[in-house]
Amino acid sequence: MAGLISATGASAGLNQQEIDKRVDKLLNQMTLEEKVGQMAQVTIDLLCEGPDVYSNYEPLRIDKNILKKAIEHYKIGSVLNVPSGKALTREKWYEIISEIQNASMKELKIPMLYGIDAIHGNNYTAGCTLFPQQIAMAASFNRGLVRKGAEITAYETRASNTPWTFSPVLDLGLNPEWPRMWETFGEDPYLASQLGVEMVKGYEGDGKEGAIDVNHVASCLKHFLGYSAAVSGKDRTPAILSENVLREYHLPSFQKAIEAGARSIMVNSGLTNGLPLHADYNILTKLLKEELGFKGVVVTDWMDIVNICSRDHVAATQKEAVKLSVNAGIDMSMIPYNFDFCDYLIQLVNEGEVKMSRIDDAVRRILKMKMELGLFEKPNTHYNDYPKFGCKEFEKASYDAACEVITLLKNENQLLPLTKGKNILICGPNANSMRTLNGGWSYSWQGDKAPEFTEKYNTIFEALQLKNKGGKVTYMPGVSYKMDGKYWEEYEDRFAETVAAAKESDYVVLCLGENSYTEKPGDLQDLYISDLQTEMAKAIAKAGKPVVLVLNEGRPRIISKFESQMNAVVQTYLPGNFGGDALADILFGEVNPSGKLPYTYPRYPNSLTNYWHKYSEEQKKAGGVYNYEADYHPQYEFGEGLSYTTFEYSNLRLSSSVYTVNQPVNITVTVKNSGKVAGKESVLLYVSDLVASLAPDMKRLRAFDKIALQPGESKEVTFTIQPKELSFIGLDNQPKLEPGEFEVSVGGLKQKFTLK
Ligand code: BGC
Repeated sequence: MAGLISATGASAGLNQQEIDKRVDKLLNQMTLEEKVGQMAQVTIDLLCEGPDVYSNYEPLRIDKNILKKAIEHYKIGSVLNVPSGKALTREKWYEIISEIQNASMKELKIPMLYGIDAIHGNNYTAGCTLFPQQIAMAASFNRGLVRKGAEITAYETRASNTPWTFSPVLDLGLNPEWPRMWETFGEDPYLASQLGVEMVKGYEGDGKEGAIDVNHVASCLKHFLGYSAAVSGKDRTPAILSENVLREYHLPSFQKAIEAGARSIMVNSGLTNGLPLHADYNILTKLLKEELGFKGVVVTDWMDIVNICSRDHVAATQKEAVKLSVNAGIDMSMIPYNFDFCDYLIQLVNEGEVKMSRIDDAVRRILKMKMELGLFEKPNTHYNDYPKFGCKEFEKASYDAACEVITLLKNENQLLPLTKGKNILICGPNANSMRTLNGGWSYSWQGDKAPEFTEKYNTIFEALQLKNKGGKVTYMPGVSYKMDGKYWEEYEDRFAETVAAAKESDYVVLCLGENSYTEKPGDLQDLYISDLQTEMAKAIAKAGKPVVLVLNEGRPRIISKFESQMNAVVQTYLPGNFGGDALADILFGEVNPSGKLPYTYPRYPNSLTNYWHKYSEEQKKAGGVYNYEADYHPQYEFGEGLSYTTFEYSNLRLSSSVYTVNQPVNITVTVKNSGKVAGKESVLLYVSDLVASLAPDMKRLRAFDKIALQPGESKEVTFTIQPKELSFIGLDNQPKLEPGEFEVSVGGLKQKFTLK
């Protein structure tokens, strides 16, 4: 663990064989009811005292009668989520989870598995270290940074007595209409695969098999498979996907993370080709368990067995839905509000509709994960054993991450870095908000409770004010988000006054974007940034002062109506609690930006093409004679990102010009910092298959590395690619590697080679 956190406390200390033996022994002693109970997961709200199953009384208390029913009668094996919908202290987490855990150990002799969405830090515990969200982490193109963030998250999650996180999201962020784009690593399958592996290793520790120690947690890959490809762009709506497309783009990130040892996986809540994934035997059993050899736990998403019947009308009754999903390969049901699943499943087994062997397979996986987590020996982890929770070192890691993700997209006449000591107007709805810096899954599901927990951190305004020594920073919103409304609701907030103040300033820092949202509530009707923000940007630009547009958004909202009037543009994504500080340091040149876009920033809502598109999307490049208005022409390209220094690429060379299938392709390029300040550069290597029997993508990212260079310094960067990594999935759904010409491109340089 690179000395970051020393492993303290006990670990199960068993090897894989011993674990398997113990699991089998236990399974043999269990009744059907006990087995089915292990497959059931309920939400903590159900177990707490409250007026209904959705809400709780304060102070929060476990309802002893319901807990008794859950454990003694239904013998449930897992609980999830955060009670009352907002972050708790570590002490409260310990109190609640240990009460459940102790009841479970006493009655069942099997520990409870508590799961939580700790997705950018342990975001449901007060005082946790919050990192930039995944979309931002992707912009770092830095594997080590992603791993470290996950390690710290794992530690802080265990510090809250929780051994399981529902993270990472390995769906591709293909379509900015989709409200979960910010939870992904962006649009590229290779980038998502590489960073997904780091995140899994960071969460689970290095050991692929056997025990996970007390400083690590089990990860959960989600949402298998094709979730982000919804045709409408709306959350949980149908996708139409051919199998070769599914395998070409959507599968690799999951496959690599499974190979890295991920302990669990969550199923796509939507439908593909008309079939809910939760009822898809081919995907869950044939592909996932048999072909990919996944040995971990397959958990449903929220209420998704119920949805097979009540939402999708694919089962006539709830019992039928349970049968379909368990037979399709589901191991655990996130039920979450009642125990019906258990009743139905027991009946189905007794009626011979679900085989005992299927139940045993599911329960074996669940018990194995509990054993690997050491929960039988140590059902609870105590916060006192995690003294580094929320420490300065962790905060620094979050700040460092924010510094590496923020992406400079435009810098006309080197407006940035700004000179300190000037008169700055900072405005826009994102200028003074910790909620927008963090986004969703931050202290509460929708991120709306952030203000209660983030007093000690700096908003962009506060950070600028601290840094602008000898100068003045005036904050005026101009436009504000309604704090008690829907995420898109906003209003004019001293609009005219703000525009007037712009005229009096030396610089304007205009902070636009989105308010926080998560999942379905974040669906949208119009990808353009809001009308009011557009109006404000135009009015501010008219004031005639240099404007730095700071974007703080979960997905690229379209800015083409005013982008040309902005002098500099900086994308912060959702940079977390230290995003304001990192941004201020970048704006004043104390940190040199090095983020690169992990997605294509569209210019128009009807042109949402990803970078790895086909030649037909670019008529000009394809040799077309007409200059089509709607040709591929994004606002900013995937991989774009400026620096305060310049990098020169030279001497791109390959180890050969002709390769056989088993011969590795070695590629070397020299990168020089030809500017005046130190900087970091993500070196992105693309390969184009020039002719293939299925139209090839114009280019695909096949390797990357991030390097740091002092002014004047050069480095040689070497990549090795195995030819089979350049194959594509044919119409027979098998990888195909065809002989012919390929072109490598790095930093604008190109070289061809032939595959024999
Ligand atoms: C989301 C999952 C999440 C689960 C548990 C669902 O609504 O789709 O990503 O892990 O809730 O909170």
